Amino acid sequence: MKSLPGTPGARIVAIGEHRPTRIVTNEEICRNIDSTDEWIRERSGIITRRYAAPDESVVDMATSAASKALAASGVAPADVDLVVLATCTHPYQTPGGSSAVQDRLGAVNAGAMDVNAACAGFAYSLAIANDAVRCGSARHVVVIGSEKMTDFIDPHDRGMAFLFGDGAGAAVVSASPTSGIGPVVWGSEGSHIQTITQEPNYTQVQHALATGESLPPVALRMAGQTVFRWAVTKMAPVAQRALDAAGVRVEELGAFVPHQANLRIVESLVKSLKLPDTVAIARDMETQGNTSSASIPLALSALLERGEVHSGQPALFIGFGAGLTYAAQVVEVP
Ligand code: UT7
Repeated sequence: MKSLPGTPGARIVAIGEHRPTRIVTNEEICRNIDSTDEWIRERSGIITRRYAAPDESVVDMATSAASKALAASGVAPADVDLVVLATCTHPYQTPGGSSAVQDRLGAVNAGAMDVNAACAGFAYSLAIANDAVRCGSARHVVVIGSEKMTDFIDPHDRGMAFLFGDGAGAAVVSASPTSGIGPVVWGSEGSHIQTITQEPNYTQVQHALATGESLPPVALRMAGQTVFRWAVTKMAPVAQRALDAAGVRVEELGAFVPHQANLRIVESLVKSLKLPDTVAIARDMETQGNTSSASIPLALSALLERGEVHSGQPALFIGFGAGLTYAAQVVEVP
């Protein structure tokens, strides 16, 4: 059997972002939960977050971010071979949101698929894009993380309401003579599946509709403290393995871009990994909240915009969340 000609490497050539315009303060969140601005800042680092408009969808935000990334890359939409949309909040089981994005981008020659690895979705999708390009299945891949978390968050849930925001970030991954995306270190601890879960599920909703049984609204529920402890104890070794796999030392890093779940988790990882002061640390959650699969590309975009990291520097990504899934890789900044 013949195999496709691959390329020696793949790299991110451009990124794009979409941040909804509505800024939501902690005071506004506290109208629905018994909490304070001070508590939220201290325990999560979040000061404000952004909410999508009622008619602004996962697909709208993904298309906006991907259009900007494509324009910056100079890659024509017709030359895109694959669109990968990481999301856990697209409101349709099928078809996936990626096909609508592919159509709206004018990526007429591209395949399309959704990836649901929750907050690790962008890092998973980037690894898939890297492999697709290196194996010759694609020359240009658009990778997007897009989330409308507010559709799945109960504004009265004291453990969740203050954490999340909406948005999208995208990257164009293209064939390259050298490698700009390091080996992925990924995994899943499915024995902890109940720590972040959607309640009620689709079948329960259908049953309730048929029987007239009353159900609470569909929302994500989280055992916050358990997930927090898991992240601070288990994610630093995963990040270190990604560094080792890429052959990059912490002193060589330009930036650390972890999933933006909680500032205390980020600070703990910085300490465990012994990152020197020369490494720019993403703290995008302060003004964006936790945007699940969108948080890594959004946070990288913010660092680039502020000039805190420069093209060509290595950045360490690590995503982690429901599943419990995780994925990390070192990436050369576009
Ligand atoms: O993106 C997917 C991955 N997700 C994460 O990584 C999130 C991980 N978890 C977290 O970020 C944190 O667990 C939270 C920010 C969600 C919560 O912070 P915590 O420090 O773990 O709080 P806790 O649940 O341990 O609660 C501590 C105290 C409790 O009071 P007592 O029992 O000590 O008197 C809670 O009742 O804080 C209380 N509390 C609150 N107080 C004010 C819980 N939620 C609130 C609140 N406002 N919203």
